Amino acid sequence: MRDRAPIATDVIGESRSPTPEVKVRAVARVWACALWGLETALVTVEVDVANGLPAFVVVGLPDAAVQEARERVRAAIRNSGYEFPLRRVTVNLAPAERRKEGTGFDLAIALGILRASGQLAVDVEALCLGELALDGALRPVRGTMPRVRHALARGIAAALLASANAGEAAACGADAYGFGSLREAVDHVAGSARVAPTVAPAPAPPERPAVDLADIAGQETPKRALEIAAAGAHSLLLVGPPGTGKTMLARALPSLLPPLDHDEALAASAVHSVAGLVDPRHPLLRSRPFRAPHHTASPLALVGGGSPPRPGEVSLAHCGVLFLDELAEFSPSVLDTLREPLEEAAVTISRAGGAATYPARFLLVAAMNPCPCGHLGDPAVECRCLPDAVERYRGRLSGPLLDRIDLRVNVPRVPYERLRDEGRESSATVRGRVLAARERMAARLVGTARRTNAELTVADIRRWCRVDDDGETLLGAAIRERRLSARGYHRLLRVARTVADLAGSDQIRADDVAVALLMRA
Ligand SMILES: Nc1ncnc2c1ncn2[C@@H]1O[C@H](COP(=O)(O)OP(=O)(O)O)[C@@H](O)[C@H]1O
Ligand SMILES: [Mg+2]
Repeated sequence: MRDRAPIATDVIGESRSPTPEVKVRAVARVWACALWGLETALVTVEVDVANGLPAFVVVGLPDAAVQEARERVRAAIRNSGYEFPLRRVTVNLAPAERRKEGTGFDLAIALGILRASGQLAVDVEALCLGELALDGALRPVRGTMPRVRHALARGIAAALLASANAGEAAACGADAYGFGSLREAVDHVAGSARVAPTVAPAPAPPERPAVDLADIAGQETPKRALEIAAAGAHSLLLVGPPGTGKTMLARALPSLLPPLDHDEALAASAVHSVAGLVDPRHPLLRSRPFRAPHHTASPLALVGGGSPPRPGEVSLAHCGVLFLDELAEFSPSVLDTLREPLEEAAVTISRAGGAATYPARFLLVAAMNPCPCGHLGDPAVECRCLPDAVERYRGRLSGPLLDRIDLRVNVPRVPYERLRDEGRESSATVRGRVLAARERMAARLVGTARRTNAELTVADIRRWCRVDDDGETLLGAAIRERRLSARGYHRLLRVARTVADLAGSDQIRADDVAVALLMRA
């Protein structure tokens, strides 16, 4: 008697279910993700299919490309063998307060319509990203990585995407499913033809650095400058006649830097993902980016922008090196745009739809000739430039930009006998010292967002950059003689701090100050 009671209750419960003839019309919900710069927000694509005159409306601040999704989605649904409902279709991109850009919402909208019109019998429990072609093919979109990571952080583990984007999503740790068409995606969700999750691609084999320090003859001071630059993340300018190895030296810099850690790899790869520059076979960067834009590059190419906005070279160099060869050949207006990223380690592009911010923490290395012919101060070749031509040439670099370059060294001609010297230090040896110095810096800055001496604040400098008495005397004399600004003084101390760190010393000694002064010729 007792054990039958539950069954009886169940039966009664079923027969008393609320009036089955009144059907509650379901609104379909599918997840997508909006992107502004690198900023992301989860978007719920809500689709309602109601009786009424046939219409297809998208609300929730869509931009022109999202509005055009209506045409792509309508055609893609029909050409995939489904029916586009001849009723009133309303799509809301929630939250509605910020503008949605781009073509990445197509897949979510199409799946939402199929779900709301009953052509898809199950809910879509995944982040949906992808652009639809009129024939129903699914196309990749930019910015997959930051969007997938955003969804993952909010507990959405699965992602449905174009095949070309699935590797990026898998590399971020998502259960990624890649499709060639809307039809394949629907069959997968419905369970009629499941596809296997994409396996996270293997990381790229480590890149061999372009140049090893051991390849470079002589140039002891510029090499020392490279070591200091790599250790403290100090920006560096190399000045010298043509053919003395400036470009070579700059290309050796990556070989001295610490390896990318996982967070840096994700951050740098996210920028490449937004720029559409991800290698689908190895979506996650393994080596620090080395970007060397040509001197004819536009401000847009250098710092980013456009509509929809794209990151520029400074952001593609995030966590890596930005190399500006022939610095004086860049147009002054282009160089001027570098000030913000150098100061803020980020670029903000303000536009009608709201600002986009891209990270831009890069190590700047630049090279230039001392004058238009390149031979000023060169003992081997006479300089043929008129004094005011030299003046104009150097004037192309603004004071504020030069002021932000920590290290400036001359790269002289290497005497013939030195070119054949053997027993040069390799990059691996120098890198060992760089890593040890970085550890000292990190220990000092533990608990802050700063990691390197180049980022020391004025308060940090007061606390950590104590100079011994002889050093103070040397500093005082140099400041009077060179009429250094407060900013110049602080830069000098940061560099001296790095020199001392490379020597394993807590105090900054006169020797360290002397090296720092030498590196600001
Ligand atoms: N210090 C050096 N040690 C070894 N090779 C050098 C050195 N300087 C120049 N070279 C050779 O000269 C070439 C040109 O050097 P490069 O770095 O382009 O000079 P720069 O940029 O100063 O004009 C290099 O590819 C290299 O073969
Ligand atoms: Mg060169």
